[in-house]
Amino acid sequence: MSNNADLFKKIIAHCKEYGFVFPSSEIYDGLSATYDYGQNGSGLKNNIKDFWWKAMVQLHENIVGIDAAIFMHPTTWKASGHLDAFNDPLIDNKDSKKRYRADVLVEEYLEKIRAKVDKEVGKAAKRFGDSFDEQVFRSTNQRVLDNEQKITAISERLRKDLENNDLDDLKAMIEEIGIADPVSGSKNWTEVRQFNLMFDTELGSVAEDASKIYLRPETAQGIFVNYLNVQKTGRMKIPFGIAQTGKAFRNEIVARQFIFRMREFEQMEMQYFVKPGEELKWYEYWKEARMKWHKALGFPAEKFRFHDHLKLAHYANAACDIEFDFPMGFKELEGIHSRTDFDLGKHEEYSGKKLQYFDPEDNTSYVPYVVETSIGLDRMFLAVISQSYTEEKLDDGNERVVLKIPPFLAPVKIAIFPLLKKDGLPEKSREIMDLLKMDHHCLYEEKDTIGKRYRRMDAIGTPYCITVDHQTLEDQTVTIRERDSMEQERVKIDQLAAIVHEKVSINKVLQKL
Ligand code: GAP
Repeated sequence: MSNNADLFKKIIAHCKEYGFVFPSSEIYDGLSATYDYGQNGSGLKNNIKDFWWKAMVQLHENIVGIDAAIFMHPTTWKASGHLDAFNDPLIDNKDSKKRYRADVLVEEYLEKIRAKVDKEVGKAAKRFGDSFDEQVFRSTNQRVLDNEQKITAISERLRKDLENNDLDDLKAMIEEIGIADPVSGSKNWTEVRQFNLMFDTELGSVAEDASKIYLRPETAQGIFVNYLNVQKTGRMKIPFGIAQTGKAFRNEIVARQFIFRMREFEQMEMQYFVKPGEELKWYEYWKEARMKWHKALGFPAEKFRFHDHLKLAHYANAACDIEFDFPMGFKELEGIHSRTDFDLGKHEEYSGKKLQYFDPEDNTSYVPYVVETSIGLDRMFLAVISQSYTEEKLDDGNERVVLKIPPFLAPVKIAIFPLLKKDGLPEKSREIMDLLKMDHHCLYEEKDTIGKRYRRMDAIGTPYCITVDHQTLEDQTVTIRERDSMEQERVKIDQLAAIVHEKVSINKVLQKL
């Protein structure tokens, strides 16, 4: 597990310097927890989205895609439970005027105790050397035992407070354990109150006509309300899925860690409609299928893990996360949830429309159960960038930063360099670019030395650089240089398309699924 604040800072700086991610409206000092994707970031993001879409929709005959509106009828959110229960417990510090999530303050406090325990264990391991038995130490050292007991008691009290919506006790606990404002050190707290995470706005241009609507906090509801439209018009037979990518909005109280938790983000969700009683079989299927998708990227297997939810939301009968080892440690990347018939059932109740499926196999009608896969595109982007960021010492003593992005996801696939800006080399380079640009995103670069041009392409993860020199004009060959090995090879121009295709094609990755 990594927890590397320096590395994270470097990745954020790299994203900005090389046109991947900028703070939103930066000329006005930015807007908190909102980011813009630059020329390379938008390319990488689109390629990740394409990979998801192809894996889900193109490879499954029984999954179709839709693109629903962000604005939805406000009753949607009453039915889904978001109006009443999509809340986080909020607390303000009266001195610093800073706002926090009360449960996160407690979680962070627990994290500090855990770190203390780990430090204690680490110190003992050093002291005792080879004879150290961690298990024995943890079960006998009084300081470790006291701290473990504290962790269990606080975690249990937090769980109960959240479950029973006991905000008074949550506040009492924060005071009892002496949590101070991380910024000011003050312990002068307000009451804890629930804060709904949905952004609202008004529909209609005349104030009197206006009705309150919401920016969707998840894309899933656009799928649920279209269940019948798609099932009927697509003549879909259960089991079948509806997939969608799109923006979602949450007024997160504490939004931080770069693009990990934002107020405007993008989701890629799929709802799989199944026969009641078969949902757990499909839940297991989608758990495995989604893990396979992640591992197809070729990242080390130990970077991913499942985290089963012990406490289930009221509408779920099974749920887990796929976690990724980000620079700040293992965190949720994707959720897989067996949501029963909760959503369709509620929409039936609130709309008065039947949302049932007639099963011709046994002549029964039922509200389908749903297994959902839900991944944040921005989080996936962060996973890819963090895993790809590599600092390398070269044989000649120099260093390079290279983004070892899986080639099929790289924003630019090929860079084409004329060795010199004269002697017909730029013209020949353009000719080659015209040949390749129909299939791949290419970039033409003629400034600076070839070495500097290589470094710039390494920094944005371009898998291939092609150099055109005087020999090219004589024998129609070029030098092609591969990003990771930095190996160079002289090849015929008419071989280029095949060489590049072999490396950057998405097909080979899709075949692994
Ligand atoms: N429809 C189910 C749903 O929305 P969720 O666990 O709340 O479930 C699913 O969100 C995924 O959306 C998460 O696993 C995460 O990748 C992404 N996500 C959620 N909130 C986010 C935020 N504030 N910023 C970025 N991504 C977020």
